[in-house]
Amino acid sequence: LDTNLPDWQSAPQADAVAEVLLNGDLAAIPTETVYGLAADATNGVACAKIFEAKGRPQFNPLISHLQSTETALEHGEFNDKAIRLARAFWPGPLTLVVPRRPSSTISDLATAGLASVALRVPEGPVMRFLAEKTGRPLAAPSANRSGRISPTRAEDVIADLGPALGAIVDTGPCPVGIESTIVGLVDDQPLLLRPGGLAREDIEAILDEHLECTEANAEENAPTAPGMLSSHYAPDAKLIMNATEASPTDALLSFGPDPLPGADGAFSEFNLSPSGDLAEAAANLFHAMRTLDLSGADVIRAQIIPNFGLGEAINDRLRRAAAPRGTG
Ligand code: TXA
Ligand code: MG
Repeated sequence: LDTNLPDWQSAPQADAVAEVLLNGDLAAIPTETVYGLAADATNGVACAKIFEAKGRPQFNPLISHLQSTETALEHGEFNDKAIRLARAFWPGPLTLVVPRRPSSTISDLATAGLASVALRVPEGPVMRFLAEKTGRPLAAPSANRSGRISPTRAEDVIADLGPALGAIVDTGPCPVGIESTIVGLVDDQPLLLRPGGLAREDIEAILDEHLECTEANAEENAPTAPGMLSSHYAPDAKLIMNATEASPTDALLSFGPDPLPGADGAFSEFNLSPSGDLAEAAANLFHAMRTLDLSGADVIRAQIIPNFGLGEAINDRLRRAAAPRGTG
C-alpha cells in the first residue's frame, strides 16, 4: 500500500493494514526513526513471524509500540525516573526498558521471556494510529534482515523483506533516521542500553544525573540489549572509521563543509551533512551507507564525526558496521 500521511487515517488502506495486523500477519510501518516490521505483540505466532522474516536470534527481544503513555503504563512498572522520561519525551525516539507487569498481554516471544519489557510511544503517527486502531501493542524491530542496515525508506524494506509483508505503509524517508535511544529503568540506576535518535544530553538534563552505559557486548554476556551484537548494520563493503584522507578506490562517507584530502577523486561520495549538522547526518546515515554500498566500492571510508548529541549514536552505528562479521 502506498499512501501519504495527512488524510491517510481515514483512507480504506488504514483498515486494511489494521486487518493484516489483527490477522497475525506482518506489516512494515514507518516511525520517525526507521521503518518497523510490525506484528501484534500479544500474538506469539505473529511475533514468531518477525523472527523468521528477519532471521533474528530468538533471544533478542522486541520493542512494543503503544499509542500513548497511558497504555504503556498497563504493560510496565514505571518508577519515578521512568515517568519523568516518558512525560518529557513521549511521543518520541526513546524506548524505556522497565519491569514487565504480570498482567501485561505482551507475549513472551516479544519479551524473549525476560522479566522486563521494552516500550515506546513513537512520534511517527502511523504506528501510534495503528496501535490505537487495532487496540494492540505492536512489536516492531527495524524492518531489515538481522545484522543488515536499518531501513529509512519503503524501498529499503521491500528490497530486504518484500515477500514477508502483508502490507507496507510508505510515508517517505524517516525524519530521525536512526533507531530510538534505549534507556533501562529496571532499578534506580538508569542505564543507556543503546544510543539513538534522542541525545544523551537531553535525557541527562531531565534526570539531572549522568547516564551510565551498559557493558553492552552481548556476545560475551547475557543479552542485556542483544541488539548491541557487535557486527550489526553491516554493509557488504568493508567500513573504515575516522578516515583522514580519501582514496580513488574507496567510497567516501563525509561530514561537514571541509572536504578530506583527495575527496574529489574518491570512487563515490555521500556527504551526511555539508553544513555539519548532526541531526541531518543521522537522518542520512543508513541511506548513505546503502547508497555507497551499491556504488560497488569494496571499502567505505567514514570521516570523523563529533561524538556528542546524535553523533554518539552515529558513531555507535559506524563502529558496529565496521566490526568483524559473523554474529548478528
Ligand atoms: O527506533 C526503534 O527503536 C525501531 C523502531 C521500529 O521503533 N525499532 C528497533 O527495534 O530498533 P530493534 O528490535 O531493531 O531493536 C530493539 C532493541 C534490541 O537491541 C533489543 O535487544 C532491545 O531493544 N531490547 C528489547 N527488549 C529489551 C529488554 N527487555 N531488555 C533489554 N533490551 C531490550
Ligand atoms: Mg535493528
